[in-house]
Amino acid sequence: MPFQHIGFVHFLMTAVLACLATTSVRAGNRRPVPSTAPPAAVTNNQTKSNSSMAESLGIQFLDGSSSSLIIERDGKKYVVDLKDRTIREADAPESSPVAHPGEIASRFISSENTQLGARIFVEKCSVCHGEGGRGLASVGTPDFTDPKIQAAMADGAIVESIKNGKKGTVMPSWQDKLSDNEIGAVASFIRSLDSSDPAQQRAAASEAKEKVKVYTAADDYLYSLPTGRRLERHGFYVNFTHRFAFDPAFSGRARGAALLGLDGFAVASFGFRYGITDKLSISAYRSPSVIGRPIELMAAYHILDEHDGYPLNATFRFSVDGQNNFSKNFTANFEGIFSRSLFKRAQIYVVPTLSLQNRRLILDPTLENAPPALPGINSFSLGAGAAFDIRPSVALIGEVIPTLVNGRALGIHRPAFAIGIQKRLWRHAFTLGFSNSPGTVVSQRAGTRATFLGDPSADTPSGLFIGFDLMRQMY
Ligand code: HEC
Repeated sequence: MPFQHIGFVHFLMTAVLACLATTSVRAGNRRPVPSTAPPAAVTNNQTKSNSSMAESLGIQFLDGSSSSLIIERDGKKYVVDLKDRTIREADAPESSPVAHPGEIASRFISSENTQLGARIFVEKCSVCHGEGGRGLASVGTPDFTDPKIQAAMADGAIVESIKNGKKGTVMPSWQDKLSDNEIGAVASFIRSLDSSDPAQQRAAASEAKEKVKVYTAADDYLYSLPTGRRLERHGFYVNFTHRFAFDPAFSGRARGAALLGLDGFAVASFGFRYGITDKLSISAYRSPSVIGRPIELMAAYHILDEHDGYPLNATFRFSVDGQNNFSKNFTANFEGIFSRSLFKRAQIYVVPTLSLQNRRLILDPTLENAPPALPGINSFSLGAGAAFDIRPSVALIGEVIPTLVNGRALGIHRPAFAIGIQKRLWRHAFTLGFSNSPGTVVSQRAGTRATFLGDPSADTPSGLFIGFDLMRQMY
């Protein structure tokens, strides 16, 4: 059966994409501090006069360093760093004057340096690490005020991350841009952010009174329902969805072998979204032939955002979809997307949607034939959903999309609904879910599997089928 093969290809693609996705997973395991061999003091044989002169002056050049040298005075050795303009006593003769992360850490993580560190942090780091080092979900940076995060970072590891950057993340290396002294200073500032520190606690408490805790949606979709989240100006996003609508996930025989229906043929939709400004965005999206091959063109305007101090988020979207690659069965959709954070870890969504000239969802699996001309029916649906973070980067999501006006005329007898789990990564989200709706364009998402397959029993909870969403911000 050809569907079986296509199903396998889809499964492979899924696996490959999932692997790609994990390459940007926050690197949880810390790389070991690289062990640079301690550079030995050398005497230059070729310039003998030079070296004997250095010796008589009590100067030693250092192999591997272009900025440090050792001066001997009254039997004591001092390391002079010309780049940093610092002089320190060389405590043990065999100790390496080229500082190791651990050594910089112990030398510089001190309160005197915290102020210099604060200035550097504001100028160079807060774009990605957030004001006050609280982290930005959109970049995937940790909250440095969290005592648990603080406890998980050794001094040496902080310095090492700053010096060399973090592989697989956008955290750059600062080795060439900051001196050891400055790296130590900013590391000591990061340490001072620990909210279990009493001074920091007082500051955080007064700040918390002013600031409302706001949830940041991980994806443009909960599952099929839009979140209306703010896009970045000039941000370019890919939305990719799969709905394995032909097999129920849990019932029937040999479900184990079919792995929750992943053996089945999927309705795979794909589109791009572009933020013209941080309020106005446009998108193009297409679903495959089995579901009428609609192309959807959309403009969205983000009006209110809780992050700006408004009591709710609001986005309006207008879209037109046309089946058979935008050539027939056109539907125009008006959506309002309203959401509100319950607290920092949960948000609820309400999405009233008016669809003019909507079409009944039918299965039309032929690639050669155009989908049949279908009567247009005006419909109104009211989507509702919620996201709840069970971990800092993992949310449980749920949604229901009842069609309140003309649902029966569209063959919809039970509302479309979905539950899922959503993982956020930097500029990336992956959602695995179960639903009874194969459609993901605005006009089709309220239609259900029973309508689609022409089987009234296909919408019962045992008919839930598996699917997933992938979102990636490319730029
Ligand atoms: C372009 C964005 C960006 C900039 C600029 C940036 N960082 Fe980072 N930083 C990151 C990301 C992303 C991570 C990785 C978080 C992770 O996945 O572990 C990170 C990680 C870190 C870590 C390790 C945290 C841990 O959990 O181990 C430290 C320390 C750090 N950054 C300090 C700094 C300092 C200090 C500066 C400024 C001098 C800075 N960063 C500038 C993006 C940035």
